Amino acid sequence: MNMQTDIAKSDKLNAATEAALETTLLNPRFYTTDFDELDAIDVSSVRPAWDKLVGEMRADPRKGHFKKNEDWDEVDWDGMEPELKKELIDFLISSLTAEFSGCVLYKEMRRRGANKDICELFGLMSRDEARHAGFINDALRESGIAVNLGFLTKEKKYTYFRPKFIYYATYLSEKIGYARYITIFRHLEKHPEHRIHPIFKWFKEWCNDEFSHGEAFALLMKTDPKLTQGRNIYWIKFFLVAVFSTMWVRDHARQRFHDALGIDIDEYDHKVLNLTSEISQQVFPIALDMKNPRWDRGLRSMNKAFQDMDKAKKRGGVMGAIGKMRAGTRALLTFINLYTIPSKKVECPEDPRLEPVW
Ligand SMILES: [Fe+2]
Ligand SMILES: [Fe+2]
Repeated sequence: MNMQTDIAKSDKLNAATEAALETTLLNPRFYTTDFDELDAIDVSSVRPAWDKLVGEMRADPRKGHFKKNEDWDEVDWDGMEPELKKELIDFLISSLTAEFSGCVLYKEMRRRGANKDICELFGLMSRDEARHAGFINDALRESGIAVNLGFLTKEKKYTYFRPKFIYYATYLSEKIGYARYITIFRHLEKHPEHRIHPIFKWFKEWCNDEFSHGEAFALLMKTDPKLTQGRNIYWIKFFLVAVFSTMWVRDHARQRFHDALGIDIDEYDHKVLNLTSEISQQVFPIALDMKNPRWDRGLRSMNKAFQDMDKAKKRGGVMGAIGKMRAGTRALLTFINLYTIPSKKVECPEDPRLEPVW
C-alpha cells in the first residue's frame, strides 16, 4: 500500500471518530454517574423476576449472533449515491456511538461495584453492547472508515447524570432501540428490495438484547417506588419528551436514507414512539398524549428550529450567531409547549415484566 492511501485512510478514520466524538444536543452521549449509589440498590423486592431475567441473559442465547456469515451480502459502497452513502454512514456512526455509550457506562459500573447482583447485570449488559458496537464497526470498516473505540472512550466528553436520570434515560433509550430495530426489521421483511445494507438482517435477534436491557432498568426502578412517584413523575415526563422529540429530529435529518429503505419517516416515527410509549407503561405512571394535535405540531416546529439552527451554524459570523440563538430559543419554547401537553395517567402492573412480542 502506498503512503497516499495510508494517509487517505487515516484521514477517513479520524473523520468517523470525530463524528462520534461530537457532543451536540442530538448526538448520542457518554454518561457517568454516582456509581456508589447505584451499587447500593437492593433487588430483593423483585428477586424472582430479577433472577429469571439475569438467568436468561447469563445463558447468552445470542452468543454467536454478531458475526458475519453467508447472509452478509457485499455492499457496493463505491457505486452508492453519495448523499445516501453519507447518511447511511452517519446512521451507522450514530448507532455505534449509542451502543458503545451503553457499553462504557455498564462496564464502568461493573468495575466499580461490589454488589453481586448489580455487577453481574451490568457485566452482562456491557458484554452485549460491546458486541453490538463491534459489529457495527465491522460494517463501517468495509466502507473504508471505522471509529477508534479506544480513543473515543478516552476523549469523548462524559455527561454526569444522577442515577435516577440514568434509569429514566437509559430505560427509554433501550426500549426505543428495541422498537426501532424491530420496526425496521419487520418493514424490510416485507420489502427486502429496500434492504440497502445486510446489517438489518441481524436486527431481529439484536433487538431482543435491547429489550432485556430495558427490562433490567424497569426492575431497577421497581426496587424503589419513589422513583416513579411524586415529583419524579415530572422528570419522567421530561425524559419522555426529550427522548421522543430527539428521535424525531434526528430521523428527519436523514431523508435520503429513509427513502432508500422505503420508509416514510413520519409514519415510522409515529409507530416507534407509540410502541415505546405502550411498553413504557410497564413502569412509568404516565404516558404522553401523542394524539393531541399540539404534539405533532410541536415535533414539526422542533424539527424546523433544529434545521434553522444548523443553517445558522453553517452561515457563521455574527448573523449566524444571532440566527442560532433565535432558533435555539424557538426550540426551547417548543419543548415547553410539548412538555405542557397534559399527559395520561397510567395504572402500572404490579409485575412489570414484558416479553418482546412485537
Ligand atoms: Fe445494544
Ligand atoms: Fe442495550
